[in-house]
Amino acid sequence: MEVYLDNGATTKPREEVINIMVKSMRENYGNPSSMHRKGVEVEKLLKKARRQVAKALGADERDIYFTSGGTESNNMAILGALEGNRRRGNHIITTKIEHPSVLNVFKSLEEKGYEVSYIDVGKNGVINIEEFKNSLRDDTVLISIMYVNNEVGTLQPIDNIISIIKGMKKKPLIHVDAIQAFGKIDFNVNKLKVDLMSISGHKIHGPKGIGALYVRKGTKLKSIFFGGSQEQGLRSGTENVPGILGLGAAAESVKKNLKTNTSKMIHLKTILLKAIKNKIEDIKINGSDLEGSAPHILNISFEGIRGEVLLHSLEQEGIYISTGSACSSKKKKVFSHVLKEMGLTDNQMEGAIRFSISHENTEDEIEYTIEKLVDIVGKLRKVIGRR
Ligand SMILES: Cc1ncc(COP(=O)(O)O)c(C=O)c1O
Repeated sequence: MEVYLDNGATTKPREEVINIMVKSMRENYGNPSSMHRKGVEVEKLLKKARRQVAKALGADERDIYFTSGGTESNNMAILGALEGNRRRGNHIITTKIEHPSVLNVFKSLEEKGYEVSYIDVGKNGVINIEEFKNSLRDDTVLISIMYVNNEVGTLQPIDNIISIIKGMKKKPLIHVDAIQAFGKIDFNVNKLKVDLMSISGHKIHGPKGIGALYVRKGTKLKSIFFGGSQEQGLRSGTENVPGILGLGAAAESVKKNLKTNTSKMIHLKTILLKAIKNKIEDIKINGSDLEGSAPHILNISFEGIRGEVLLHSLEQEGIYISTGSACSSKKKKVFSHVLKEMGLTDNQMEGAIRFSISHENTEDEIEYTIEKLVDIVGKLRKVIGRR
């Protein structure tokens, strides 16, 4: 049996996504900027995809800009907002557990002279809201915060943050990295009242190398790219048409099936979590387990076992999981900055693995995973003489 439980790293593209992409390469290969029919037909398809993404986010389609993925959306949002609001101040806020595509931008901005507040998280992976409140200043220009953490699945209190800044005289801009939240959490950018939001195609059974940035009307954002002025001048470069059409189809599906997909994920996560708690001793759930957590991510430390060994043992049985985030898991001996900030010991960090579920997984797959996991953990612990 093959069980793919690494959907936080990436997901399998849906059949309809693949079909629309192939069709676009075979038939609709025109450049949307061309004035002839081949271009105009593609421009129409792009419009449809923009509408699909906008609808899924609860946004106006004119506020959606296609990018090359989550990383680019995050970079564009942060760098573009600061460029566009240079005179407003020199202070920016983020958290200590962001994805590198946000955290490393802030580090480079710090080197360039911006003052940065990196907000701490508690043991559960949720930011310290008092510390956040106290960090706000008159010259705070931008806050960038993730909705759902990719490694542990905890949800940040975006609503609360927005209501706190609403009362400020000079309201900072707020950017939300919603890459792990899109398709898993029911939100609407208009109701949420964020200024900027990043999403990515390959986390929602769409294609890789495509994403979008939502920019609320009136938000001053300067382009960080220079070229042919595509995407209303914000993101120059000939559009990745197959990717955009694939993203549109994936976004529409996510919107249409949000309730059924999330309840399926919660159901599977509950089965997995309960069985692990009941059948395996000396474990630690990292972050919140069900409440306060996204429906697809479950991060657990198995005491005395290295996550990497567990990963490869499960792989032998056809089960694919991850240790921490995909991006950091290949850098040997570098512990996850997220788990570190949550106060885990070196052993707990070393023993951490992440299961990330999709609505496409089945109960049988979860039962098979539990059976193999219990067996492997038992064997590995016997080898190291723990039991
Ligand atoms: C929270 C978060 N932000 C940003 C990214 C980067 O997205 P992309 O892979 O589309 O560049 C990821 C991907 O792992 C993520 O999980």
